[in-house]
Amino acid sequence: MESATPVIVAIDGPSGTGKSSTSKAVAAQLGLSYLDTGAQYRAITWWMVHNGIDTGDRAAIAAAAGKPEIVSGTDPLNPTITVDGVDVSGPIRTQEVTSKVSAVSAVPDVRARITELQRSLAATAERGIVVEGRDIGTTVLPDADLKVFLTASPEARAARRSGELRGADIHTTREALIKRDAADSSRKTSPLAKADDAVEVDTTDLTLPQVIDCVVTLVEEKRAGK
Ligand code: DC
Repeated sequence: MESATPVIVAIDGPSGTGKSSTSKAVAAQLGLSYLDTGAQYRAITWWMVHNGIDTGDRAAIAAAAGKPEIVSGTDPLNPTITVDGVDVSGPIRTQEVTSKVSAVSAVPDVRARITELQRSLAATAERGIVVEGRDIGTTVLPDADLKVFLTASPEARAARRSGELRGADIHTTREALIKRDAADSSRKTSPLAKADDAVEVDTTDLTLPQVIDCVVTLVEEKRAGK
């Protein structure tokens, strides 16, 4: 498929809405780059933990925010993430990082640093990019061609997450998800929020292929100028 102008797609929403699977598949189908911004926040959190920085100390986090070099590979079929040259794709998914990422990502210096990386990756994606996160449509790329906000009931989200975590207790997963969403939605700097011009897609009763089709159609409609 030929397209002269790059297309920028922002996909936001809380965890467990199928954001990553949808974003990767949409990017792959349309020949676009893909960026998982949650992985970047997880990577900087991993670096803080790895370097003994107290993740409860906002001043210490702010002072260190510029130190790690975070590099994201944007091929949707093989997304990669390194910190100072180390592949951290496994370590960023641990329970320890998951439980600390909301605190680290709430620090304005961290957000400024990561936002800059995100904007430069979006600006250099030749054919365009699908960027998934929490504040992409509102803050990082407010001029995106298409903004999608994915939602799902807490029950559906917990069920999906505990499936991913290979049978983790669904009630514990549900509580942890609700707690993380509340922290991500209530922080002062660029909280999880739906942009006014985003299309909301409730994925509770949709299969993954249905969500992917829906977003691909939205992108194609935008490209066709509808
Ligand atoms: O999508 P995820 O669960 O991997 O994201 C991990 C955390 O990163 C999430 O709890 C909040 C933070 N995050 C953020 O603050 N802004 C983004 N654009 C993406 C993620």
